[in-house]
Amino acid sequence: MPFYYRLGTLPKSRHVQFRRPDGVLYSEELFGTEGFSGPSSTMYHINPPTQVHGWKPLYSTRPEYFEADVMRMRHIKTAPMRPSGDPVTGRVVLFGNADCEMAVCVPAEPMPYHYKNGQGDECLFIHFGTGVVHTMMGSLRFGPKDYIIIPKGVIYTMIFDRRKRAAEGEPAVADMPYGKFLVIETVNGSHIGPPPRYVSKAHGQFLEHAPYCERDLRLPEQPLTWNEHGQFEVRVKARDLMHSYVYDYHPLDIVGWDGCYYPYIFNIDDFAPITGKLHMPPPIHQTFEAHNFVICSFCPRMLDWHPQAIKVPYNHSNIDSDEVLYYVEGNFGSRKGIEVGSMTAHPQGIPHGPHPGTIEASLSATYTAELAVMCDTFRPLFPTRAAIDLDDPKYPASWQGEHFPKLRAGELKLNGIAAREAPALQVAAMSEHKPAAANTWAPNAPLPAATQPSKPAANGKHPRRAPAKPRRRR
Ligand SMILES: [Fe+2]
Repeated sequence: MPFYYRLGTLPKSRHVQFRRPDGVLYSEELFGTEGFSGPSSTMYHINPPTQVHGWKPLYSTRPEYFEADVMRMRHIKTAPMRPSGDPVTGRVVLFGNADCEMAVCVPAEPMPYHYKNGQGDECLFIHFGTGVVHTMMGSLRFGPKDYIIIPKGVIYTMIFDRRKRAAEGEPAVADMPYGKFLVIETVNGSHIGPPPRYVSKAHGQFLEHAPYCERDLRLPEQPLTWNEHGQFEVRVKARDLMHSYVYDYHPLDIVGWDGCYYPYIFNIDDFAPITGKLHMPPPIHQTFEAHNFVICSFCPRMLDWHPQAIKVPYNHSNIDSDEVLYYVEGNFGSRKGIEVGSMTAHPQGIPHGPHPGTIEASLSATYTAELAVMCDTFRPLFPTRAAIDLDDPKYPASWQGEHFPKLRAGELKLNGIAAREAPALQVAAMSEHKPAAANTWAPNAPLPAATQPSKPAANGKHPRRAPAKPRRRR
């Protein structure tokens, strides 16, 4: 994060003697990025953070992509996913490329170890469930609709509260004993943060036009420090391989830290949507970004208020992006057949837009309760085997069908005349529309006489026209 924060006990200056109650020096560690030129934090450990052993390889985390050369729309239904693994091993990668990976996790068991993603930042969007993330920089309690941003290198463990009952609309406890979350992580070494256009260049303060600000972020709190000895496993993901390291002390042994590099939470309900008289494009929903991808929040909001506004998104080709939407709750006006937990993927090579019938159905709406998380990538995304197994093969053809059924049924009135009453008149009225000459751009066509520029004379001056003679009235 761009702003400074501190937690716990710190010495007055950096790089000076700072002693434990028993007189031994604390171990200072600079946690820096971008070769000591980017955001960093300075931490004070009870034990030297270098004293680890083990480095046992556990399993590959490299996703295997299928149908990488096939471009088509996809609709992944994640609701049937069964609980498996823990909050790390249970992550099922569905899409990815060389910039990011997207996974869904329905944990079946707690994680009895700590974890560090040594190759990328993580954005964990909690769909269902509550709990706490204990990190080396403090604790973050989480709940539904929280984005948890965990920067690369931060050691943490994720503890879900075991669900006792299912609230209305939630999956049964047996199908989801702890919760469910979406994972978007960088694999290109970049960091996830707010879009630079939301913050001031000089100081990184959130600007007035940003849809959220510092007060909306929840930062790490106590408890921060565990002073325990024993054998503690820390699993480190690096080089697409999960490693097992062993610490002889609790890995969360920091008594204090300060700086601008730390985990935090932003709840999607605190996003203040930007609305407009006419349809606003997806960048207004942007929440975070990293190199070559963005994360957007589609939140409940007032719809466009122009009296003739079309309320659902127009057909669009976002020709430089692949677009994945994860549907959280509410009714998505422009899509049919979408359910809670659906994930759609729209590749850059083909337009997408409202499903048949949804434009007319939305015209009178003034509010949408839709809630979704979108990840747009600037390079093609590839599905994994798990995604293909959950894919609805009928989705790419779901735009087929009658877009304006009321017109065919004669219920829709154009120019105040029902099509059934006067179809011939309708067709005539529509075919009478011809582009005006002024709207036609044809560089080689001769201009109308009235707009032809007069030719300059040999001396370069335009000849003077004789003044028009006044007409005599009859
Ligand atoms: Fe789109």
